[in-house]
Amino acid sequence: MMKLNKAITFIFLIVYSISIKAQSTEFTSSYYDTGAIFFLLLIAAIFIAFLYYGQGEGKKSEPVKKKGSIFQLGFVRRFITGLTPVEKENDILLEHNFDGIKELDNRIPPWFNYLFYGSILFAVYYMLDYHVFESGKLQAEEYAEEMNLAQQQRDQLARSGAFISEESVTFAGDSETLQKGKELFIQHCTACHAADGGGLIGPNLTDKFWIHGGDIKNVFKVIKYGVPAKGMISWQQQLNPLQMQDVARYILSLQGTSPQNPKQPEGTPYTTHDTLKTLSVK
Ligand code: HEC
Repeated sequence: MMKLNKAITFIFLIVYSISIKAQSTEFTSSYYDTGAIFFLLLIAAIFIAFLYYGQGEGKKSEPVKKKGSIFQLGFVRRFITGLTPVEKENDILLEHNFDGIKELDNRIPPWFNYLFYGSILFAVYYMLDYHVFESGKLQAEEYAEEMNLAQQQRDQLARSGAFISEESVTFAGDSETLQKGKELFIQHCTACHAADGGGLIGPNLTDKFWIHGGDIKNVFKVIKYGVPAKGMISWQQQLNPLQMQDVARYILSLQGTSPQNPKQPEGTPYTTHDTLKTLSVK
């Protein structure tokens, strides 16, 4: 029995130190999953063994007693339930007698004791780990860390423009975005709007006449969803939100410029739109 005691403590120590290592080297949820699965399996194994061997309690004979059997099941059974063999029950019979009902002074089943010792060990490790050496992270710390991570991911997404929509799009005239917008415009839009925005199949984008409204939100919306019935493509599959914002800003920076062959104005004059007339990309 003593050897088994040591073996179990040893296994526990190994598993625990591995789990601590995993925890300190990387911060992933898979470590928790592995731990949870391990303990669930352990509990399930104990439970099944308990059910299986617990059934033989009332019977006189051991469930498996064949000599030469590979697995010494009788031993396993005794290890798990700690029951005294029926032949020796007289030794543990208690004195008292309640109307013919007598009591056996059976041992506490070892499986139960090991759980108990295990929980004591665990408590010691837990305290050392989380409160003395502070190598483990307490909930508040983990929470802060995850919030931090989420914030970083959010910032990253925001930088990539994932949150830009027709609601949140803004106008700004810094030369870097306008340059990017110009490149996109030349690449995708020239065929229909002409390289200088003067208009071909599509309308002139340099005058103050707009079919769908001339502020950044309207322009962004037309670029994003298109006007399929009129031959303006939806660009949300080809361009990401940041690119659509860049090209929309670029278009508005063309306001008031003089294209070579301006198309006749279409739509209605729109005066309140965002423009930065002084800025144009050369
Ligand atoms: C296949 C031709 C074609 C291409 C390519 C094209 N457009 Fe258009 N676009 C049009 C047409 C046609 C209209 C007019 C839609 C209407 O009459 O409602 C238009 C309308 C617009 C409008 C609205 C103008 C207004 O007066 O309200 C904007 C803004 C616009 N396009 C931007 C772009 C941008 C940016 C690109 C490139 C990413 C682009 N278009 C590519 C054909 C095109």
